Amino acid sequence: MPKAIVTGATSGIGEVIACRLAAAGMTVVLVGRDAGRLDRARGRIDAEVPGADLPTEKADLSLLAEVRDLAARLTAQPPPDVVVSNAAVVAPVDERTPEGLQRTLVTNHLAPYLLLRSLAEAQDRKPARYVIVGGDPRGLARVPVNLDDLADGGGGPLRDFMTYARTKNMNAMFGYALARRLRGTGITVNGAHPGIIRGTGLGRQASRPVRLLGAAFSPFSAGPDAGADTPAWLATAPDVEGVTGRYYVRRRAVGTAPHTTDEARCERLWNLSADLVGLRSAHG
Ligand SMILES: NC(=O)c1ccc[n+]([C@@H]2O[C@H](COP(=O)([O-])OP(=O)(O)OC[C@H]3O[C@@H](n4cnc5c(N)ncnc54)[C@H](OP(=O)(O)O)[C@@H]3O)[C@@H](O)[C@H]2O)c1
Repeated sequence: MPKAIVTGATSGIGEVIACRLAAAGMTVVLVGRDAGRLDRARGRIDAEVPGADLPTEKADLSLLAEVRDLAARLTAQPPPDVVVSNAAVVAPVDERTPEGLQRTLVTNHLAPYLLLRSLAEAQDRKPARYVIVGGDPRGLARVPVNLDDLADGGGGPLRDFMTYARTKNMNAMFGYALARRLRGTGITVNGAHPGIIRGTGLGRQASRPVRLLGAAFSPFSAGPDAGADTPAWLATAPDVEGVTGRYYVRRRAVGTAPHTTDEARCERLWNLSADLVGLRSAHG
Protein backbone atom coordinates (compact mmCIF):
# COMPACT_ATOMS: atom_id res chain seq x y z
CA MET A 1 0.00 0.00 0.00
CA PRO A 2 1.49 3.42 -0.91
CA LYS A 3 2.27 5.63 2.05
CA ALA A 4 1.74 9.36 2.59
CA ILE A 5 2.84 11.63 5.41
CA VAL A 6 0.71 14.71 6.11
CA THR A 7 1.70 17.37 8.66
CA GLY A 8 -0.98 19.48 10.29
CA ALA A 9 -3.49 16.70 9.68
CA THR A 10 -5.57 17.45 12.79
CA SER A 11 -7.73 20.18 11.29
CA GLY A 12 -8.61 22.33 8.32
CA ILE A 13 -7.03 21.75 4.94
CA GLY A 14 -4.52 19.13 6.16
CA GLU A 15 -7.24 16.88 7.54
CA VAL A 16 -9.10 16.95 4.23
CA ILE A 17 -5.86 16.26 2.31
CA ALA A 18 -5.24 13.26 4.59
CA CYS A 19 -8.80 12.08 3.98
CA ARG A 20 -8.41 12.37 0.19
CA LEU A 21 -5.15 10.42 0.23
CA ALA A 22 -6.71 7.72 2.41
CA ALA A 23 -9.64 7.54 -0.02
CA ALA A 24 -7.07 7.08 -2.81
CA GLY A 25 -5.90 3.91 -1.03
CA MET A 26 -2.85 5.22 0.79
CA THR A 27 -1.69 4.58 4.30
CA VAL A 28 -1.64 8.10 5.71
CA VAL A 29 0.66 9.01 8.59
CA LEU A 30 -1.10 11.83 10.43
CA VAL A 31 1.36 14.22 12.05
CA GLY A 32 0.07 16.47 14.84
CA ARG A 33 1.17 17.94 18.15
CA ASP A 34 -1.66 16.78 20.39
CA ALA A 35 -2.61 13.15 21.03
CA GLY A 36 -6.29 13.92 21.59
CA ARG A 37 -6.60 15.98 18.41
CA LEU A 38 -4.77 13.27 16.47
CA ASP A 39 -7.18 10.61 17.76
CA ARG A 40 -10.21 12.73 16.91
CA ALA A 41 -8.91 13.52 13.40
CA ARG A 42 -8.23 9.82 12.84
CA GLY A 43 -11.79 9.03 13.96
CA ARG A 44 -13.29 11.59 11.58
CA ILE A 45 -11.22 10.35 8.62
CA ASP A 46 -12.04 6.73 9.47
CA ALA A 47 -15.73 7.64 9.42
CA GLU A 48 -15.26 9.00 5.87
CA VAL A 49 -12.96 6.20 4.69
CA PRO A 50 -13.86 3.11 6.74
CA GLY A 51 -10.91 0.82 7.39
CA ALA A 52 -8.30 3.41 6.33
CA ASP A 53 -4.79 2.78 7.62
CA LEU A 54 -4.02 5.92 9.65
CA PRO A 55 -0.98 5.69 11.89
CA THR A 56 -0.28 8.83 13.93
CA GLU A 57 2.95 10.60 14.82
CA LYS A 58 2.93 13.13 17.63
CA ALA A 59 5.39 15.99 17.20
CA ASP A 60 5.34 19.66 18.09
CA LEU A 61 6.77 21.20 14.93
CA SER A 62 7.65 24.43 16.71
CA LEU A 63 10.45 22.52 18.47
CA LEU A 64 13.42 21.45 16.35
CA ALA A 65 14.25 18.67 18.81
CA GLU A 66 10.81 17.15 18.20
CA VAL A 67 11.15 17.58 14.42
CA ARG A 68 14.51 15.78 14.59
CA ASP A 69 12.95 12.93 16.59
CA LEU A 70 10.05 12.75 14.16
CA ALA A 71 12.46 12.61 11.20
CA ALA A 72 14.42 9.85 12.92
CA ARG A 73 11.25 7.79 13.48
CA LEU A 74 10.02 8.32 9.92
CA THR A 75 13.36 7.60 8.26
CA ALA A 76 13.61 4.33 10.21
CA GLN A 77 10.52 3.17 8.26
CA PRO A 78 10.23 2.39 4.53
CA PRO A 79 10.32 5.70 2.57
CA PRO A 80 6.99 7.37 1.76
CA ASP A 81 5.44 7.87 -1.68
CA VAL A 82 3.94 11.23 -0.78
CA VAL A 83 4.79 13.91 1.76
CA VAL A 84 2.51 16.90 2.26
CA SER A 85 4.00 19.68 4.37
CA ASN A 86 0.91 21.55 5.46
CA ALA A 87 1.21 22.54 9.13
CA ALA A 88 1.51 26.25 9.82
CA VAL A 89 0.59 28.83 12.41
CA VAL A 90 0.05 32.58 12.66
CA ALA A 91 1.57 33.10 16.10
CA PRO A 92 2.37 36.36 17.90
CA VAL A 93 5.54 37.74 16.32
CA ASP A 94 7.37 38.03 19.67
CA GLU A 95 6.63 34.48 20.79
CA ARG A 96 9.81 32.46 21.21
CA THR A 97 9.95 28.70 21.76
CA PRO A 98 11.90 27.14 24.65
CA GLU A 99 14.69 26.70 22.05
CA GLY A 100 14.84 30.51 21.70
CA LEU A 101 13.50 30.73 18.14
CA GLN A 102 10.41 32.49 16.80
CA ARG A 103 7.49 30.06 16.85
CA THR A 104 6.12 31.13 13.45
CA LEU A 105 9.52 30.78 11.75
CA VAL A 106 10.17 27.30 13.16
CA THR A 107 6.71 25.84 12.62
CA ASN A 108 6.18 27.19 9.12
CA HIS A 109 9.66 27.10 7.61
CA LEU A 110 12.42 25.51 9.68
CA ALA A 111 10.36 22.42 10.55
CA PRO A 112 9.47 21.57 6.91
CA TYR A 113 13.05 22.40 5.89
CA LEU A 114 14.48 19.97 8.45
CA LEU A 115 11.83 17.29 7.92
CA LEU A 116 11.79 17.24 4.11
CA ARG A 117 15.57 17.45 3.82
CA SER A 118 15.90 14.54 6.27
CA LEU A 119 13.27 12.48 4.45
CA ALA A 120 14.82 13.20 1.03
CA GLU A 121 18.26 12.10 2.21
CA ALA A 122 16.74 8.80 3.41
CA GLN A 123 14.48 8.28 0.38
CA ASP A 124 16.85 5.61 -0.93
CA ARG A 125 16.13 6.18 -4.65
CA LYS A 126 12.41 5.57 -4.19
CA PRO A 127 10.32 8.04 -6.25
CA ALA A 128 8.08 10.30 -4.23
CA ARG A 129 6.03 13.46 -4.47
CA TYR A 130 6.65 16.21 -1.94
CA VAL A 131 4.01 18.94 -1.78
CA ILE A 132 4.58 22.11 0.23
CA VAL A 133 1.45 24.08 1.09
CA GLY A 134 2.34 27.75 0.78
CA GLY A 135 0.25 30.88 0.29
CA ASP A 136 -1.19 33.22 -2.31
CA PRO A 137 1.64 34.25 -4.66
CA ARG A 138 -0.05 37.54 -5.61
CA GLY A 139 -0.36 38.80 -2.04
CA LEU A 140 3.01 37.38 -1.05
CA ALA A 141 4.75 39.28 -3.86
CA ARG A 142 4.53 42.34 -1.58
CA VAL A 143 6.35 40.80 1.39
CA PRO A 144 9.82 39.61 0.39
CA VAL A 145 11.71 37.55 2.95
CA ASN A 146 14.25 39.64 4.86
CA LEU A 147 17.33 37.44 4.57
CA ASP A 148 19.13 39.59 7.16
CA ASP A 149 16.46 38.70 9.73
CA LEU A 150 14.25 35.68 9.01
CA ALA A 151 12.02 36.51 11.99
CA ASP A 152 11.27 40.03 10.70
CA GLY A 153 7.58 40.84 10.50
CA GLY A 154 7.91 44.58 10.06
CA GLY A 155 5.82 46.85 12.27
CA GLY A 156 2.14 47.67 12.47
CA PRO A 157 -0.96 45.92 13.77
CA LEU A 158 -0.75 43.12 11.18
CA ARG A 159 2.84 42.16 11.97
CA ASP A 160 1.86 38.64 13.13
CA PHE A 161 0.34 38.09 9.72
CA MET A 162 3.27 39.71 7.88
CA THR A 163 5.70 37.40 9.68
CA TYR A 164 3.53 34.44 8.71
CA ALA A 165 3.37 35.71 5.11
CA ARG A 166 7.15 35.87 4.88
CA THR A 167 7.39 32.25 6.06
CA LYS A 168 4.95 31.33 3.27
CA ASN A 169 7.39 32.92 0.79
CA MET A 170 10.11 30.82 2.43
CA ASN A 171 7.97 27.74 1.63
CA ALA A 172 8.12 28.60 -2.08
CA MET A 173 11.85 29.39 -1.98
CA PHE A 174 12.68 26.19 -0.11
CA GLY A 175 10.56 24.17 -2.54
CA TYR A 176 12.45 25.54 -5.53
CA ALA A 177 15.85 24.94 -3.90
CA LEU A 178 14.93 21.40 -2.84
CA ALA A 179 13.50 20.56 -6.27
CA ARG A 180 16.75 21.73 -7.92
CA ARG A 181 18.79 19.47 -5.68
CA LEU A 182 16.51 16.48 -6.22
CA ARG A 183 16.14 16.78 -10.00
CA GLY A 184 16.69 13.37 -11.58
CA THR A 185 16.23 11.44 -8.31
CA GLY A 186 12.54 10.65 -8.86
CA ILE A 187 11.52 12.88 -5.97
CA THR A 188 9.40 15.80 -7.15
CA VAL A 189 8.76 18.93 -5.10
CA ASN A 190 5.95 21.37 -5.85
CA GLY A 191 4.31 24.23 -3.99
CA ALA A 192 0.58 24.89 -3.73
CA HIS A 193 -1.64 27.75 -2.65
CA PRO A 194 -4.84 26.25 -1.23
CA GLY A 195 -6.92 29.40 -1.76
CA ILE A 196 -8.38 31.71 0.86
CA ILE A 197 -10.21 29.18 3.00
CA ARG A 198 -12.68 29.71 5.86
CA GLY A 199 -13.42 27.45 8.79
CA THR A 200 -9.85 26.37 9.56
CA GLY A 201 -7.86 26.96 12.74
CA LEU A 202 -5.35 29.31 11.11
CA GLY A 203 -4.93 32.61 12.90
CA ARG A 204 -6.76 31.62 16.07
CA GLN A 205 -3.60 32.31 18.09
CA ALA A 206 -2.86 35.64 16.36
CA SER A 207 -3.55 39.17 17.55
CA ARG A 208 -7.06 40.67 17.38
CA PRO A 209 -6.42 42.77 14.21
CA VAL A 210 -5.30 39.64 12.35
CA ARG A 211 -8.35 37.68 13.55
CA LEU A 212 -10.63 40.53 12.49
CA LEU A 213 -8.99 40.55 9.04
CA GLY A 214 -9.62 36.78 8.72
CA ALA A 215 -13.24 37.20 9.80
CA ALA A 216 -13.75 39.93 7.18
CA PHE A 217 -12.67 37.55 4.40
CA SER A 218 -14.56 34.56 5.79
CA PRO A 219 -18.03 35.06 4.23
CA PHE A 220 -16.49 35.19 0.75
CA SER A 221 -14.21 32.17 1.12
CA ALA A 222 -14.55 28.48 0.26
CA GLY A 223 -14.17 25.69 2.84
CA PRO A 224 -11.33 23.23 3.52
CA ASP A 225 -12.55 20.82 0.79
CA ALA A 226 -11.64 23.44 -1.82
CA GLY A 227 -8.35 24.15 -0.02
CA ALA A 228 -7.33 20.49 -0.15
CA ASP A 229 -8.01 20.13 -3.85
CA THR A 230 -4.75 21.37 -5.40
CA PRO A 231 -2.38 19.83 -2.81
CA ALA A 232 -4.14 16.43 -2.97
CA TRP A 233 -4.16 16.60 -6.78
CA LEU A 234 -0.42 17.33 -6.83
CA ALA A 235 0.12 14.35 -4.55
CA THR A 236 -1.80 11.87 -6.70
CA ALA A 237 -2.69 13.01 -10.25
CA PRO A 238 -1.09 11.27 -13.25
CA ASP A 239 -1.11 14.71 -15.01
CA VAL A 240 1.75 15.92 -12.80
CA GLU A 241 3.83 12.75 -12.74
CA GLY A 242 7.49 13.80 -12.91
CA VAL A 243 6.71 17.54 -12.76
CA THR A 244 8.91 19.34 -10.24
CA GLY A 245 9.93 22.80 -9.06
CA ARG A 246 6.59 24.42 -9.87
CA TYR A 247 3.96 26.31 -7.90
CA TYR A 248 0.24 25.68 -8.34
CA VAL A 249 -2.97 27.58 -7.74
CA ARG A 250 -6.26 25.85 -8.61
CA ARG A 251 -4.34 23.05 -10.34
CA ARG A 252 -2.56 25.53 -12.62
CA ALA A 253 1.16 26.21 -12.62
CA VAL A 254 1.79 29.88 -11.83
CA GLY A 255 4.80 32.11 -11.40
CA THR A 256 5.74 33.44 -7.98
CA ALA A 257 7.51 36.75 -7.28
CA PRO A 258 11.08 37.16 -8.57
CA HIS A 259 12.30 37.55 -4.97
CA THR A 260 11.15 33.94 -4.36
CA THR A 261 12.66 32.45 -7.53
CA ASP A 262 16.03 34.23 -7.48
CA GLU A 263 18.48 31.36 -7.12
CA ALA A 264 21.01 33.30 -5.04
CA ARG A 265 18.30 34.32 -2.56
CA CYS A 266 17.00 30.74 -2.37
CA GLU A 267 20.51 29.46 -1.72
CA ARG A 268 21.08 32.06 0.98
CA LEU A 269 17.85 30.99 2.67
CA TRP A 270 18.92 27.35 2.35
CA ASN A 271 22.23 28.02 4.07
CA LEU A 272 20.77 30.24 6.81
CA SER A 273 18.17 27.56 7.52
CA ALA A 274 20.80 24.83 7.57
CA ASP A 275 22.74 26.76 10.20
CA LEU A 276 19.62 27.26 12.31
CA VAL A 277 18.56 23.61 12.24
CA GLY A 278 22.09 22.20 12.44
CA LEU A 279 22.29 20.51 9.03
CA ARG A 280 25.21 21.02 6.66
CA SER A 281 24.70 23.92 4.28
CA ALA A 282 25.95 22.28 1.08
CA HIS A 283 23.74 19.37 0.03
CA GLY A 284 24.24 17.26 -3.05
N1 LIG B 1 -6.86 29.00 5.45
C1 LIG B 1 -6.39 29.78 4.48
O1 LIG B 1 -7.06 30.72 4.02
C2 LIG B 1 -5.01 29.55 3.94
C3 LIG B 1 -4.55 30.42 2.92
C4 LIG B 1 -3.27 30.22 2.41
C5 LIG B 1 -2.48 29.18 2.89
N2 LIG B 1 -2.96 28.36 3.88
C6 LIG B 1 -2.09 27.29 4.36
O2 LIG B 1 -2.81 26.09 4.48
C7 LIG B 1 -2.18 25.25 5.46
C8 LIG B 1 -3.22 24.69 6.41
O3 LIG B 1 -3.81 25.76 7.13
P1 LIG B 1 -5.33 25.74 7.62
O4 LIG B 1 -5.96 26.98 7.10
O5 LIG B 1 -5.95 24.42 7.37
O6 LIG B 1 -5.15 25.99 9.21
P2 LIG B 1 -5.31 25.02 10.48
O7 LIG B 1 -6.68 24.43 10.50
O8 LIG B 1 -4.89 25.83 11.65
O9 LIG B 1 -4.26 23.88 10.20
C9 LIG B 1 -2.92 24.02 10.56
C10 LIG B 1 -2.43 22.70 11.07
O10 LIG B 1 -1.07 22.88 11.48
C11 LIG B 1 -0.94 22.30 12.77
N3 LIG B 1 0.10 22.92 13.58
C12 LIG B 1 0.22 24.21 13.93
N4 LIG B 1 1.26 24.37 14.76
C13 LIG B 1 1.81 23.14 14.91
C14 LIG B 1 2.89 22.64 15.67
N5 LIG B 1 3.65 23.45 16.44
N6 LIG B 1 3.17 21.33 15.61
C15 LIG B 1 2.42 20.49 14.85
N7 LIG B 1 1.37 20.90 14.13
C16 LIG B 1 1.07 22.21 14.17
C17 LIG B 1 -2.29 22.51 13.42
O11 LIG B 1 -2.39 21.62 14.51
P3 LIG B 1 -3.37 21.89 15.78
O12 LIG B 1 -4.64 21.21 15.40
O13 LIG B 1 -2.66 21.24 16.90
O14 LIG B 1 -3.49 23.38 15.92
C18 LIG B 1 -3.22 22.20 12.28
O15 LIG B 1 -3.43 20.81 12.16
C19 LIG B 1 -1.12 26.13 6.13
O16 LIG B 1 0.14 25.85 5.58
C20 LIG B 1 -1.54 27.54 5.75
O17 LIG B 1 -0.45 28.44 5.72
C21 LIG B 1 -4.20 28.53 4.42
